[in-house]
Amino acid sequence: MPRDIEISPSILASDFARLGAECAALGEAGADRLHWDVMDGVFVPNLTIGPDVIAACRPHSELPFEAHLMVVNPDELVSRYVEAGCSTVMVHAEACPHLHRSLAGIRDLGARSGVALNPHTPAAAIQHVLSVLDHVLVMTVNPGFGGQTYISETERKVSEIRAMIDDGGHEIDLEVDGGIGADTIAAASRAGANVFVSGSAVFGHPRGKAAAISEFRNLAQQAR
Ligand code: DX5
Ligand code: ZN
Repeated sequence: MPRDIEISPSILASDFARLGAECAALGEAGADRLHWDVMDGVFVPNLTIGPDVIAACRPHSELPFEAHLMVVNPDELVSRYVEAGCSTVMVHAEACPHLHRSLAGIRDLGARSGVALNPHTPAAAIQHVLSVLDHVLVMTVNPGFGGQTYISETERKVSEIRAMIDDGGHEIDLEVDGGIGADTIAAASRAGANVFVSGSAVFGHPRGKAAAISEFRNLAQQAR
């Protein structure tokens, strides 16, 4: 039984002066979860938001929050994001020398454990941590900025990870992040993703956020 298709708009593309209202509007537009891009200016060359901002937005939405931590030393910070109301916390494999421990630590805090992989990081990076993993995020752009071009070479990795998950009978979501929109979501879905982050394509859709989310969901569903 394939896992549900979910659309996870990235807050990075929202109006930061109206964050609470943006979160509420995404729920009304039919989003399944909200994706928070946390950048530290070290792991990636950009700075965004931290746990206090996410906590301030938590009362404005009933959707699950997921934190995508593009930071060095994420272990020290994970509890802050769980306390802020994130039910899934994703760390980058490239930032975690002890990835198994990092993922188990997220679960110990009562959250779903996620790992993000940069475009060049092979699928094998998660092969030996599947038992402590709830969520995989395959970066389909180099992390750091919204609005970049989708890297289609990453689809082969998505397919490899889909096979790993299914062959092992694991209950793990497979999400793609970066450059996802009307032109790319079908291919990512066909490759095996079931959760789709979308920032600029949701916020910049000519017919609005609700139309974008329903169009993207249909395209992903039809491509299965
Ligand atoms: C990039 C972030 C993405 C980004 C997606 O580092 O992880 O979540 O905001 O934005 P779009 O959909 O505009 O590529
Ligand atoms: Zn992200």
